[in-house]
Amino acid sequence: MKALVLAGGSGTRLRPITYTSAKQLLPVANKPVLFYGLEAIRDTGITDVGIVVGDTVAEIEHAVGDGSAFGLDVTYIRQNAPLGLAHAVLIAREYLGDDDFLMYLGDNFVLGGITALTEQFRRERPAAQIMLTRVPNARAFGVAELDAEGARVVGLEEKPEHPKSDLALVGVYLFTPAIHDAVAVLKPSWRNELEITEAIQWLIDTGREVSSTTISGYWKDTGNVEDMLEVNRLVLEGLERRGTVDDSSELIGRVVVEEGAQVTGSRIVGPAIIGRGARVTGSYIGPFTSIAEDCVIADSEIEYSIVLRGASVRGVRRIEASLIGHEAEVTPAPRVPKAHRLVLGDHSKVQISS
Ligand code: G1P
Repeated sequence: MKALVLAGGSGTRLRPITYTSAKQLLPVANKPVLFYGLEAIRDTGITDVGIVVGDTVAEIEHAVGDGSAFGLDVTYIRQNAPLGLAHAVLIAREYLGDDDFLMYLGDNFVLGGITALTEQFRRERPAAQIMLTRVPNARAFGVAELDAEGARVVGLEEKPEHPKSDLALVGVYLFTPAIHDAVAVLKPSWRNELEITEAIQWLIDTGREVSSTTISGYWKDTGNVEDMLEVNRLVLEGLERRGTVDDSSELIGRVVVEEGAQVTGSRIVGPAIIGRGARVTGSYIGPFTSIAEDCVIADSEIEYSIVLRGASVRGVRRIEASLIGHEAEVTPAPRVPKAHRLVLGDHSKVQISS
């Protein structure tokens, strides 16, 4: 069995962060979302992984390399345009051969892994096995309709205007080679993509078995910063305390201070993580906060936030529920005149408390 990981796409929903970063590399507790997926795949026992990449190929290759750091053997498959999930299967045909495969969308996060699901598939080998989860915003997903007993999948729709249920397709799919016949007959959808949802519907329509499992503990980049903060919170809650700080600092609860981070004269209330090479001085870092590598937090207070690599926050009280991009700088404005001074990237969002 192989795995096909999709790491293309343009990440429009998480602009402006994704103008400069592949969405699959956005960090959760200071680790790219994609890495959690690769680890979950490794835990199923699969080692051969094809990663489908688009414009952000260089960045993804730089982060993942040949996969050996994950115990995987990674092959890159180039997709020249984001023409859909089923298109990715189409171009990976040669790589996949006649093997069963797990397809994993690199921007999805499944708490609790996928090992049980994969084992079930190996035992039962339906033509396709999908994962579902209840969501409040079903229109942003592929949506499944189950029969009256809630056992069998009877219909699937991609981003429906009027969803027939709140059961969204999670970006983890298991397929036998039957999917290749389905993909071969697809026509582009309204968004000009070959939809995997339609391919699975074709399997249902032609009488093949499509089974589903409903899970909880799921996240995807719907462009919603609250969701990102929430998944960050969940993962931070599972961390074990490690790392040290100077005598004038105080650590409370599960705090990870990564090697090479410097914390002086500060109070950190976990769960929180401070990345390699970050400097925290005279500051308060509150629960559910991830400070990435090489950040500077000085004379500031920040809580329930994610700060990406190389950003700095100096003299600001207090920041909450925020996502701060790479190399961003947050400082107080000069006292006179009393005004906010902003240099914001396209599609930035700022909420000011005054
Ligand atoms: C894709 C699928 C959709 C699924 C979602 C999960 O959506 O088309 O059915 O629910 O992934 O991440 P997209 O990310 O292309 O909007």
